[in-house]
Amino acid sequence: MQVHKYDVVIVGAGGAGMRAAIESGQRARTAVLTKLYPTRSHTGAAQGGMCAALANVEEDSWEWHTFDTIKGGDYLVDQDAAEVMAKEAIEAVLDLEKMGLPFNRTPEGKIDQRRFGGHTRDHGKSPVRRACYAADRTGHMILQTLYQACIKHNVEFYNEFYVFDLVLVDTPEGRRPAGVVAYELATGELHVFQAKSVVFATGGNGKVFKTTSNAHTLTGDGMAIAFRNGLPLEDMEFVQFHPTGLAGLGILVSEAARGEGGILRNSEGERFMERYAPTIKDLAPRDIVARSMANEVREGRGCGPNKDYVLLDLTHLEPAHIDAKLPDITEFARTYLGVEPYTEPVPVFPTAHYTMGGIPTDIKGEVFENSEKTIPGLYAAGEVACVSVHGSNRLGTNSLLDINVFGKRAGIYAAEYAHGAEFLPIPDDAMEATEALLNNALSAEGSEKVGAIRKDLQDTMDLNMQVFRTEESINKALSDIAALEERYANIAIQDHGKRYNLDLLEAVELGFLLQLAKVMSVAALHRQESRGGHAREDFPKRDDENFMVHSMVYDDPSSETAGIRQETKPVIFTHYEPMERKY
Ligand code: FUM
Repeated sequence: MQVHKYDVVIVGAGGAGMRAAIESGQRARTAVLTKLYPTRSHTGAAQGGMCAALANVEEDSWEWHTFDTIKGGDYLVDQDAAEVMAKEAIEAVLDLEKMGLPFNRTPEGKIDQRRFGGHTRDHGKSPVRRACYAADRTGHMILQTLYQACIKHNVEFYNEFYVFDLVLVDTPEGRRPAGVVAYELATGELHVFQAKSVVFATGGNGKVFKTTSNAHTLTGDGMAIAFRNGLPLEDMEFVQFHPTGLAGLGILVSEAARGEGGILRNSEGERFMERYAPTIKDLAPRDIVARSMANEVREGRGCGPNKDYVLLDLTHLEPAHIDAKLPDITEFARTYLGVEPYTEPVPVFPTAHYTMGGIPTDIKGEVFENSEKTIPGLYAAGEVACVSVHGSNRLGTNSLLDINVFGKRAGIYAAEYAHGAEFLPIPDDAMEATEALLNNALSAEGSEKVGAIRKDLQDTMDLNMQVFRTEESINKALSDIAALEERYANIAIQDHGKRYNLDLLEAVELGFLLQLAKVMSVAALHRQESRGGHAREDFPKRDDENFMVHSMVYDDPSSETAGIRQETKPVIFTHYEPMERKY
């Protein structure tokens, strides 16, 4: 067994992982393990901005930001977490500025700010300029800046080390992390990283869907590993469909396009959002805009030969303004759809973008092992986590903020915990589950292809678990997933080598995706109401009496619902009573 010893091990090198590493690396011996190279992480694909109530261009306050986040999340947000995030947002942006991030500036040299969906002045009166940005490459700039800061602080990276398991051991105080098991892509060797604290920051699982803005790497690894180790996943029914994916492709077209004045139109040329959200129109939260778009298409007002998309109109904006503020996304429209945004509207339709749920944590980033108790020493941050700051629908630009605020917190608390803790012994059988996982895939002699099963999974999720859901569609997804699991047991992979065996990794990732698709569908089945990103056509109303609670799902073979047990956790309220959600 190759064993490496660090005080803190961070799994994942996107924004949350690297922000955690910057803090932890200055306080404790820290290693970051990533299945990619850090600067290829998906944070780099985030476009439009990171919000903070800096009030640089107009009046704003962190309390308004808190309120917008809670209302945007349809009141399923843990309000203590939202307060922390909105309050610490200001320092989070200034931290990045000091690290050298090249934000767009106002003529006076302050960090410029733009509008984004659901962010408002004075509790919904009008849109407010709260998003700090670097053109439409904000995530890319954050990723590069954080990486440089990690190098400056001598953080040790293990690139292309794929973590397959978490080692949890029983102690008199309860279960505690002892480390992780990782597979080295270059050699095919397994390694154990012994650590006092472990931080998961592995991102989301958007690849369960076919139409998604997510990178190929977003296969929900951290969530699946936690779930397989008996930990719960929270609020997994809530998926965000970003309104403006390039039609037919799902590639992200930043909401910044609407923040800069872009307008959504149907086949009649109508600015239809005026009907759905009369006050803030195209800048309503994403769940509302995505549903409105899907509704326009369903009612026959879609565009194109199949009437299956709507149009994002930027033609009234000055080309120079488009070039300065939206250079990348307009280039995407030219490259992938052959559309010139100066003169032609861009075909768009909702695309799976973000998982609101994940590994449950408290505001320190400490992971819950059930509805009441956390596991000291085990942390999660970013999209893999559910600190429940987004509730049932995240506001745009709150995710780049989330990774910075809660990544930083997780890094600080992980290092602090490590200082007071001892290394726990790694059990002799620590690698057994991973060896079995890999050997099963390597020795499988079935007839099914991984790619074909993944495609069928993504098709059924797009068809049955997209913007609108019903009991019938969710059950269809579940029965399809069950059939796909049977096929998965009969796969064969082509590559049996040790070096850079991506065939093997894709097989393992497909196992994660199947498991998470099932988790999401079971949670969706249980939630018999419509709230935020979860729109049940058979239960069209929000039902606070029965469902103002977080879903907590556990792996439990004895459960009759696809081997998944459903429990609940109370929502934390501080100041804000649930209201009807009007915009
Ligand atoms: O539209 C966007 O630029 C995406 C931002 C986000 O998801 O926060």
